Amino acid sequence: MIKVLNDIFVLEGKNIQYAFGPYKGLLRHIYFGNKVDERDFQHFDIEDISSNDSAYDIAWEEYTPWGGLRYKEPAVKVRFSDGTRDLVLEYYGFLIEEDILRIRFRDKFYPIEIFLNYKMYEEYDILARWVEFKNLGKEDIFIEKAYSCELNLEGTGYYITNVLGYWAGEGRRFKEKLEGGKLILESRKGNTGHNNNPYFILDIGADEDRGEVYFGTLEYSGNFKILVEATPYYSTRVLMGFNDFDFEYRLKPSEGLIVPKAYLGYTDKGYSDMSKRLHSFARDIILPGDLKNSLRPVLFNSWEATLFDVKCHEQIELARKAKDIGCELFVVDDGWFGERNSDAVGLGDWEVNKEKFPKGLEELIDEVNRLGMEFGLWIEPEMVNPNSKLYKEHPEWVYRFNNRELTTARNQLVLNLTLKEVKDYLFNVLDGLLTNYNIKYIKWDMNRPFSEAGALNLDIKEQKMIWFLHSRAVFEIVERLRNKHKGIEIEACASGGGRVDFGILNYFDEFWASDNTDALDRLLIQESVGYIYPAKAMRCWVTDCPNFISGRTIPIEFRFHVAMMGALGIGGNLNKWSKEEFDLAKKKIKQYKEIRHIVQHGELFRIKSITKDEIHALQYVYKGESVLFAFKAHQRFGRKSYKVKLKGLKDNKIYEVKYDDKIIRKGGAYLKNLGIDIILDGDFSSQLIIIKEV
Ligand code: DGJ
Repeated sequence: MIKVLNDIFVLEGKNIQYAFGPYKGLLRHIYFGNKVDERDFQHFDIEDISSNDSAYDIAWEEYTPWGGLRYKEPAVKVRFSDGTRDLVLEYYGFLIEEDILRIRFRDKFYPIEIFLNYKMYEEYDILARWVEFKNLGKEDIFIEKAYSCELNLEGTGYYITNVLGYWAGEGRRFKEKLEGGKLILESRKGNTGHNNNPYFILDIGADEDRGEVYFGTLEYSGNFKILVEATPYYSTRVLMGFNDFDFEYRLKPSEGLIVPKAYLGYTDKGYSDMSKRLHSFARDIILPGDLKNSLRPVLFNSWEATLFDVKCHEQIELARKAKDIGCELFVVDDGWFGERNSDAVGLGDWEVNKEKFPKGLEELIDEVNRLGMEFGLWIEPEMVNPNSKLYKEHPEWVYRFNNRELTTARNQLVLNLTLKEVKDYLFNVLDGLLTNYNIKYIKWDMNRPFSEAGALNLDIKEQKMIWFLHSRAVFEIVERLRNKHKGIEIEACASGGGRVDFGILNYFDEFWASDNTDALDRLLIQESVGYIYPAKAMRCWVTDCPNFISGRTIPIEFRFHVAMMGALGIGGNLNKWSKEEFDLAKKKIKQYKEIRHIVQHGELFRIKSITKDEIHALQYVYKGESVLFAFKAHQRFGRKSYKVKLKGLKDNKIYEVKYDDKIIRKGGAYLKNLGIDIILDGDFSSQLIIIKEV
């Protein structure tokens, strides 16, 4: 709900409130937190401390322009064609369009208009903020920096959480206290990347169930930047949006630019409540419409089983076994096209390899469909190997700088998606595959960051726009495909978890969290991803041991339980599985189908984490049903029994808990306060416990 009280705007969610307004020439932030009586809000006068500490730097501005006596990080910086480089914004009133509050600014002299947009998703207590620029004049305007939002918080010393990841080490969390100075989380790679993720979590001593948490995510999949600044003036600022590294947007006369949406939240109930709000918001609002309400199928993926050595008859054998254990979708990964026998060849040549599929891809797809499964295919549209036919025909289709050698990574180059013909070509390739074959699932991969990021087709003044244009082009292609092929399921992958963000989830149904499928590492990767992203969107496979990354051997039941905490997939070589492994797989996939609605649509509670505790336990609750997963990695000092206090249950309801081959009936209050004692006996022991309201 939007309330306007003289010079103060208030956006209200179910539990939260956000207040700001124009006062003495600046748009000032007033409050973000739990609801208070809005009639009590007021503006405060701020004085200069000295000639070196102006009120501009001390004031909590909603969107700080660079100019005058401002030295803090600006939210926006522009350059006009006559060389003037600061913005002098004047408040031009507001509009309310449906449920969006739009605050209008114009520069005092130059013809630029800026809208700050606010939309409160009341039910989820999530505030969307984004910015629009419009050039009202006859000359170009250059936007050198544009964040999606700025947030001003009282005091310093907030704990900031994000990840310090890399390939196969995605999701390694860190938490750091910021008493002073700036902390930057960013990507300069062209995509989201593995290193940091586009979200912030700020708290002062919160835990899972208690404490104040401010959080935010960005609906963007390109170079992002989050800057957290503990100011000398007893406040902390958070800015989130486009990375200004190598960024400049040329706004031509009468053109506009929309900066991606930031989603902000506040809770005083700890991380668990933060995740609950983000998960339900992502499921209901962010994910693409087609499959929003359906559950993700159990898939088989061929990658770890056969790598590039894809052979039709072997895939058919795998498909039969996949069906036998209960898979619903069969996905052929890399290696089905062109001369693709290694990562050094074939990328870009998207025709079916005749040696691998002598009777065409239909032979496999028909059999997969006959077995009653859907078929899916891997593709890496944005890339090309230099020795491919595509590159030989179109060497001008890759990003490049004049007079510079091209740098390959994984033997590949990045296609220039700012070229219309490349975008159309990729759409036609994908459209062709989806039209000619009965393909219901696409795994869209991207295995390298950008280098020599120049687009010779673009004007010299537009070179620094490529980061944004590329990301937008990917979304445009996917949107066109979705419009034409309703119900298609698309997985985002970028060398594992290099493209996990709310931007991608707006167009893709799910993501691959990591190439690291070692179940112990995965516990941590998945836990980390789960702070922000819903289980439904996270693909998790059961693969073979010894694991190809860790060399570790972990019992198959443990591996299943870990992968069952997301959208389950099987990635092992079924042609080598023993009877015992098959039997267990059948049992577990059947069980997953019975509980997947709880995992995929339920509320997540992190009960114990092996980062701190001897055991790891996560619980999912959906209406009156719940499932608890508990794990122990290493047996220590003979201890076998562990107390786990359940969460998310109703105090006065009775629940039936099935575990350790027994069934107990207890009240919700009992299970939450006294808990249950579970047995985890030995290295890599695990339990899946079902709890039902009776
Ligand atoms: C990287 C992905 O993360 C893997 O799952 C697999 O699809 C390979 N690429 C294929 O080249």
